[in-house]
Amino acid sequence: MRAKDKVNVLMVDDHPTKLLTYEAILAGLGENLIKAKSGNEALELLLKHDVAVVLTDVSMPGMDGFELADTIRQHPRFRKMPIIFISAVCVSDFDRLKGYQTGAVDYISVPVVPELLRAKVSVFAELHRRALQLENLNRELRRLSNSLIAAQDNERRRIARAMHDGLGQELSAAKMVLDGLASHEEPANSRRALAVSDASAMIDRALQQVRSISHLLHPPLLDEVGLSSAIAWFLEGFTKRSGIGTCLDMQPTEFPRFPAELETAVFRIVQEALNNVFRHSGARNSWIALQQQDGRLIVSVRDDGKGINMNVVDCRPDSIGVGIGGMRQRVKEFGGELTLQNCNPGTLLEISIPTGNWVQPTVGESAKESLPAEAPARPIPAPLTPPAAPASLTAVSISATVTKDASNGAAAVLLPAVL
Ligand SMILES: Nc1ncnc2c1ncn2[C@@H]1O[C@H](COP(=O)(O)OP(=O)(O)OP(=O)(O)O)[C@@H](O)[C@H]1O
Ligand SMILES: [Mg+2]
Repeated sequence: MRAKDKVNVLMVDDHPTKLLTYEAILAGLGENLIKAKSGNEALELLLKHDVAVVLTDVSMPGMDGFELADTIRQHPRFRKMPIIFISAVCVSDFDRLKGYQTGAVDYISVPVVPELLRAKVSVFAELHRRALQLENLNRELRRLSNSLIAAQDNERRRIARAMHDGLGQELSAAKMVLDGLASHEEPANSRRALAVSDASAMIDRALQQVRSISHLLHPPLLDEVGLSSAIAWFLEGFTKRSGIGTCLDMQPTEFPRFPAELETAVFRIVQEALNNVFRHSGARNSWIALQQQDGRLIVSVRDDGKGINMNVVDCRPDSIGVGIGGMRQRVKEFGGELTLQNCNPGTLLEISIPTGNWVQPTVGESAKESLPAEAPARPIPAPLTPPAAPASLTAVSISATVTKDASNGAAAVLLPAVL
């Protein structure tokens, strides 16, 4: 909306001549003036137009100005509608206005001073214009951030595939060549033969890393068998990398499929929530639950760590980062909500998304047959000797140090293969 776009001003009076007078006074404001000759007509017009301010006579036959204001305020959409009363009655009658708790109310007594009426209406008109501009900007911002999230997901999927199909294949081919050379080396323990075997082992490790990074960037299980298997796989790796125990609960156990975008969003949310558990909570255990119930998909991630600051619970902009901001955005895109709670001990993050008729049947038999492996047993225990040090210093047993992000692809560079 441009700064000079007109807003609607609704004028209500049973005397057509007075309406014409108000029209003449307000014409200079350049707004869109709408006339109503009764309270009922005003209500009908309100429902049809986006009105910035209502200017109403108090004494009217039938529904008077106060009754009109009461009716307007009862409607949830118009609870904050600014109303200006015009009346010749004594000021004490305006005591009735004190009952209004929300929304702006003003009054003008007759004879109307044109400058005063213009000033009051223009303030409300300007406020409304600004509110509309803000709303438009917010909508644009939401659209942009949604498309950024979608672009990021697509990019991750693309890089995962390129790594797997490109880099992975090249490394495999190189390994075959080296292994071929090794078989012709005589004697087997010559310097040359040892160097070839070292190089082959290095390629093995590189292949494992490529596989790890590629799968963490976009788990193939997510597309093939769905959310529940992808999360179970991810939790198994998370426990290995972080030393934090995870316990997965799914209701129903034969978890249904959802549209790909929703499954990706939920997977990313669980990934980010566990990343936060690892980085901020100092927890030793976490519980993840997926529930499909009453047309909603409910997902929760709980930990037994130090709990969460109330500023974060209230999602104060200066207390949350890209993690929680991004999770909220993803959930909003599907019309759902995200809540955070301090559980003493620990933190509970819960999302609830209406699924309506999106749900697809449970994974078919043919898809089940192509499952690469059984989903890991649940709960997934932490290593036998859980780290006493803060999580950020945790060392996992398999020759790797856990870096800042235990649950996302970036960290995998330093991690052993998780599959
Ligand atoms: N499970 C948790 N336990 C304790 N504190 C938490 C937990 N999850 C989040 N927090 C707190 O909430 C804050 C905001 O989290 P958020 O994920 O939005 O940002 P961040 O993790 O600090 O940075 P990033 O933008 O990289 O995600 C964290 O800095 C941390 O203080
Ligand atoms: Mg975070």
